[in-house]
Amino acid sequence: MKELLFVDCCIRGGQSRTAALARAFFGAVDEKAYHVTRLDLTAQDLKPLAGNFFEARQTLLAQGRLDHPRFRYAHQFAQADLVVVAAPFWDLTYPALLKLYIENVSVDGITFGCNAQGIYGKCRGEKLVFLTTRGGCYEGSPLEQGSRSMEALSQFFGFGSYACVAADGLDAEGADSRAILDEACAKARDLAKAL
Ligand SMILES: Cc1cc2nc3c(=O)[nH]c(=O)nc-3n(C[C@H](O)[C@H](O)[C@H](O)COP(=O)(O)O)c2cc1C
Repeated sequence: MKELLFVDCCIRGGQSRTAALARAFFGAVDEKAYHVTRLDLTAQDLKPLAGNFFEARQTLLAQGRLDHPRFRYAHQFAQADLVVVAAPFWDLTYPALLKLYIENVSVDGITFGCNAQGIYGKCRGEKLVFLTTRGGCYEGSPLEQGSRSMEALSQFFGFGSYACVAADGLDAEGADSRAILDEACAKARDLAKAL
């Protein structure tokens, strides 16, 4: 059985349309093929890398203490066969809560490494899937920095491939938001079935 890590950054919980997209995806995942672990970011005590929290990390890294509990998110991320991230589109990207998580998983020696050729990814994940919903219409626009950032990170961490399903323009005036979300949910189900 493969390990699927679900990084849930659907901050509005039951009200979240991104969460509805994620439910569609997970409803179609083969339960016999994947063991799913959901990491609810709203329930984690994630801190920014600053002050003592930053200094303590630098000391641990210098000492090679990668088994320290504070690196548990990085180990979990690196060992997953598949990672699915669900987060809404905020301020042209994703919420700061997801950025905090990324800061915490981005650890030299666990999720990436360095050699004479440069930086290389160390994650075993075959694929990184990003599920998102956006108020405005940003698909294909250079202003869209959520999926772009996740795709770059998937390469940085060494994932085999990247896929994004987005419901775009949900809050645009006159938009049929139900139909847009339904279409995205259908795409999410197809992606999950094709894993
Ligand atoms: C704090 C905040 C920031 C947002 N920023 C943007 C934005 O920059 N561009 C945009 O098109 N929509 C923006 N939106 C609208 C959301 O992308 C949209 O409503 C989305 O579907 C919310 O997802 P959710 O239902 O999963 O919370 C923002 C919403 C919030 C609450």
